[in-house]
Amino acid sequence: MLNNESLFIRTKDEIEKLWSNNKKLSDFVIWPKNLVLKEKNINKINVTEKLSIWKSSGNDQIDKIHNLISDLSQVVYWESGYSENEVNQEFLSKYGFFELIGPTGHFLTSEMGLWVNFLDKNSYYPPHNHEAEELYFVVSGEAKFESEDEQSQILKSKDTRFHKSYQAHSITTFDEKILSFVIWKNKFENVSKMVDPNSL
Ligand SMILES: [Fe+2]
Repeated sequence: MLNNESLFIRTKDEIEKLWSNNKKLSDFVIWPKNLVLKEKNINKINVTEKLSIWKSSGNDQIDKIHNLISDLSQVVYWESGYSENEVNQEFLSKYGFFELIGPTGHFLTSEMGLWVNFLDKNSYYPPHNHEAEELYFVVSGEAKFESEDEQSQILKSKDTRFHKSYQAHSITTFDEKILSFVIWKNKFENVSKMVDPNSL
């Protein structure tokens, strides 16, 4: 039995249920069969604690998912994704993600990537892009999403937004932080890169 196995399995099962009830998610990528939980180190960063103390008091399925993810915060491998050459120190202190499901995730699969993303309030995640097509799904909180050649939009819990391959996008938070799933279905090897800050 791996450390915290039952918490990982309960979280995965609850997200799988969400998939079966949400056409935006299931149309974007089919939920992989036979996900294997792998031993992976714990890595804590600045936002680890911020997510672990952020609990939802609601009783809906999405609140349950929020709280499972919040509980997982202390036992997963958090990353910042960008170097200090690419983004400023303030951003790095307010942003982080962990690969729950994917080619190098806690659950292994080559069929999709699902990262849990946290962005603190009053933050700006500058324009960036990547080869993979991407779907954002907001678990809780809210943020303004902007992308190349599209209307900006405030996204809240259970909202989704699609980004095409190499379409630049940015995220701005105001009075609320945001917890979201970032889902990729291919081209995992080409990581996200910052682009011209004035591209949106
Ligand atoms: Fe993205």
